Amino acid sequence: PTIYLADYTPPNWLVEEVHLTFRLAPRSTRVLSRVRFAPNPAAMSRAFFLEGEELTLISARIDGAEVKPEVTPEGLTCAVPDGPFLWEAEVEIAPEANTALEGLYLSNGMYTTQCEAQGFRKITYYPDRPDVMSVFTVRIESDLPVLLSNGNRVAQGDGFAEWHDPWPKPAYLFALVAGDLLALPGSFTTRSGKAVELNVWVRKGDEDKCDFAMEALKKSMKWDEDVYGREYDLDIFNIVAVDDFNMGAMENKGLNIFNSSAVLASPETATDANFERIEAIIAHEYFHNWTGNRITCRDWFQLCLKEGLTVFRDAQFTADMRSEPVKRISDVLDLRGRQFREDGGPLAHPVRPESFKEINNFYTATVYEKGAEVIGMLKRLVGDDGYGKAVQLYFDRHDGQACTIEDWLKVFEDATGRDLTQFKRWYSQAGTPVVTMTDSYADGTYTVTLKQTLPDTPGQTDKQPQVIPFAIGLLDPSGAEVVPTTLLELTEREQSFAFEGLKARPVPSPLRGFSAPVVLDHATDNAARAFLLAHDTDPFNRWEAGRQLAKSALVAMIGGGQSPDAAYLDGLRALVTDETLDPAFRALALSLPSEDDLAQAFADAGRTPDPQAIWEGREAMRSAVAEVLADALPALYARHLVTGPYSPEAGPAGKRALTNALLALISRTDGGAAARAQYAAADNMTQQLGALSALLGAGQGAEELAAFADQWRHERLVMDKWFMIQVAQARPEAAAATAAALAERDDFTLTNPNRFRAVFGALAMNQAGFHHASGDGYRLLADWLIRLDPLNPQTTARMCSAFQTWRRYDADRKEMMQAQLERIAALPKLSRDTGEMVGRILG
Ligand code: ARG
Ligand code: ZN
Repeated sequence: PTIYLADYTPPNWLVEEVHLTFRLAPRSTRVLSRVRFAPNPAAMSRAFFLEGEELTLISARIDGAEVKPEVTPEGLTCAVPDGPFLWEAEVEIAPEANTALEGLYLSNGMYTTQCEAQGFRKITYYPDRPDVMSVFTVRIESDLPVLLSNGNRVAQGDGFAEWHDPWPKPAYLFALVAGDLLALPGSFTTRSGKAVELNVWVRKGDEDKCDFAMEALKKSMKWDEDVYGREYDLDIFNIVAVDDFNMGAMENKGLNIFNSSAVLASPETATDANFERIEAIIAHEYFHNWTGNRITCRDWFQLCLKEGLTVFRDAQFTADMRSEPVKRISDVLDLRGRQFREDGGPLAHPVRPESFKEINNFYTATVYEKGAEVIGMLKRLVGDDGYGKAVQLYFDRHDGQACTIEDWLKVFEDATGRDLTQFKRWYSQAGTPVVTMTDSYADGTYTVTLKQTLPDTPGQTDKQPQVIPFAIGLLDPSGAEVVPTTLLELTEREQSFAFEGLKARPVPSPLRGFSAPVVLDHATDNAARAFLLAHDTDPFNRWEAGRQLAKSALVAMIGGGQSPDAAYLDGLRALVTDETLDPAFRALALSLPSEDDLAQAFADAGRTPDPQAIWEGREAMRSAVAEVLADALPALYARHLVTGPYSPEAGPAGKRALTNALLALISRTDGGAAARAQYAAADNMTQQLGALSALLGAGQGAEELAAFADQWRHERLVMDKWFMIQVAQARPEAAAATAAALAERDDFTLTNPNRFRAVFGALAMNQAGFHHASGDGYRLLADWLIRLDPLNPQTTARMCSAFQTWRRYDADRKEMMQAQLERIAALPKLSRDTGEMVGRILG
C-alpha cells in the first residue's frame, strides 16, 4: 500500500514507559515487553494496533490478564480498556536468520540492531512510529561479555546488564549490541563540567583502528558546544563497529552503530578519503543527538528535518576542521553527481516526499543532500545572526518533541520576521531549477536578468517560482573585483538586477559558492572561463570555471575527435603549478568531469550520450594532459610527495591527493616507473592504493595487484578496496567479466553489503563498462540483484538506481535496460523495497 503525508493522524495511544527484556539466542531470542499505554487526548479514535513483522507471538497480557490478539503479517489488534493499561508480550525472533540487517541480527557472532526507519517492529509488537516517544529500560540476558543498550548502565552482573535511557525517544532510536568486543576508552568533559565516558567498541583484532574515530568524536562534541551550544546529555556515549550494515551509520541514542568502514582506520589500511569520511560520519551521528534525537520527526515524510539539517551541520564541521572551499567543491560534485541525477529522472521526489511504499527507499541524495542545501539557502537568506537565533529557538521550543518542516520554518519566521511561504516550495517541488542568466551593459550600468524554469517531474507539473539566493560578484577587465559577492534574491519567474557606477563592462562571477542547488544556464565562452579561472576571488567559482573549460573541451573532443582545447590546457598548467594554491584544490582541478556528468551534458543538449565515446574522449584527454604537462609533472610530484610519518590531517592529505593525481598522469608516459616506486615505498594506504590505481589506469600493475591481495587478505576493509579497484579500473569491454569473476571467489559474499557494493557498486559506477554495448553489464547486475533481493531487500533496492538514467540512452541500450528491469519486476517474490524502486524507474 502507498502511504500519504496528507493522511497523517496522531497516534491513538501514547506510551508512558517501556521495559524490554532480551534473552539472546541465535535462533530463538525471546523478547519480553512491558509497555504502559495511555490514550492520546489528541487522537480521533481508541483503536489499538501494534506494528509487528516476522514475530512469533508467545503470549500477551493486558493488566495481567492473558489476551488473544488478532495477528496479521503487519501487526496485531486487540480489545483494550478505555483508559491507561499495561501491555505485556513475549515474542520469539531468529537473529541468525536475519540477512536483511534490519531489526535484531547477528553479524560475525555479534548481536546488533538497526531500527530506523521501521526495524523495531521486527523486534517486538509496538507503535513503531516516531511520534510515539517513551522512556526505555532494557535488560539483556546473555553469556556474551559485552551487553549494550541506550542510555546509562544501571545494573550489570553475571550474564545480564540493564540500561535506562531517561530521554523519551521513538522506537527507531532503540539499539542493542551484544558480543565479545573490545573498547577503546576515552572521556570528554562537557562545558558544564560533566565527565562523559566514551567507548569505541570493536571485534578483537580491530582495536588498533579506533584512535581516529575517538578523536573525531571528541572534536564533534566540542564543536557542537562551541558552534550550536549543544551539550551531551548522558553519562556514557558508545560507538560500535559492525561489519554487516546496510548504510553508513546510525544515531541510536547513546549507542551509535557504525558500518565498520565508517569507523575503523589506521594509516596502513585506510586512505585519506576514508579518514575524512569517518570524521564526517562520526560528527553526523553525534550531531543527531540534538537534531534527530532530542528533537525528532513527527512522521517519516519529515525525514529531511533531521537529515538535511544534520548533513548541513556535519558539512559546517568538516569545513571548520579542514578546508572550506575544498569541502564545498566536493559537496557540489557529489550533489550534481547523485542528486541532480536523481532529480532529473524517474526517481525525482521532493525534499519532503508526499507518498511512499517503502520509506527505506527515501534515504536519498534528495532528502539528505538537497535537504542540506535548503538549510544553506535559508542561512544565506536570513544571515548568520538570523540563522543562529532561529536555531536556538528551535532547540528551546521543540526539545522533546516530534516535529515537522512547518515547525522548523516557523522558528525562522518568528526569529527573523521573514515570511517563508514561498521558500517552503523548496520542500514540496521536485526537480532541479534551471536559472538562465543574461546580461547587458550601458552607461556604467550592468544589468543581470535571471529567469527560472522548473522542470516537470513524475507527478508534478506547472510549478511555482521558488526563492533562489543567487550570489554574484563582478570583476573588471583587469581582473580586479569591482563588486564583491552580493546576494540577489530571485523570487519571480524573471527578474532584473542593476549594478550602477561601473567604469567598464564587468566580467560576472555568477552563483558564487554555489549559492543555490540549481543548474546555471549562462551563455559564456572559453575566454571568460579562462579569465575567471585566473582571477576569480571566489574559490568555488574559480574551480567551476576550470571545470566548465574541461567540460566544453571534452564535449568537443568526444563529438568531433578534435585535439584538446588550448585554453583548457593553458589554464590547467597555470593552476596546477600555482604554489599559492592549496594542493587539495589543485588535485580537484586536475580531475576531469565524470563520465556520467558528460553523459548528462549530452542529454541536456538534446543529444544521445555514447558511453564508449565518452570513455575514449576522457582517456584521450588524460593522455593529452599527461603529454602536454609532461615537462612539469615530475618536478611537481617530487615537490609535494609526502614522506615521513603519516598524518591524516588536511595539509598532508591534500598533498597526497595532488601527488596521486599527478602520478596517474605521469604513469601514462613513464611506463609506470614512478608509480611502481611509490607502491614499493608506501607505508600508508593512500599512497599504496594511489600507486596501484595509477598502474591499473595505465594498463599495468598485475604484479602489484596480486601482491596487494597477498598482503591484505586478512583485512576485509582493505580487500573491499581490492575488489573495487579492479572493477572501477576495468576497460569498458572487460568490466562485466571482471566483476563476474570476482563474484565467484570464495571471499565474495552476498551477506556483506560492503563486499557486494565493492563489486557491483563499482560496476554501476564504471559507466562505459556498465553501459557496454554487449549488454553484459546490465545482465550481470540484474542477475546479482535478483540473487540479493530475497536476502537483503534494502541494499538491492538502493542499487537498482544504477538503471535510473536508462531513458537517456540509444534505443538498443534502452531496450536492454528495460528488459532487465522488467525481468526484476516480474519476480514472484520481489521485495516491497525493490518492487517500488523498479516500478518507479520504469515509470
Ligand atoms: N539515520 C541514519 C543516518 O543518516 C541513516 C539510517 C538509515 N537506515 C535505513 N535503513 N534507511 O545517519
Ligand atoms: Zn543522518
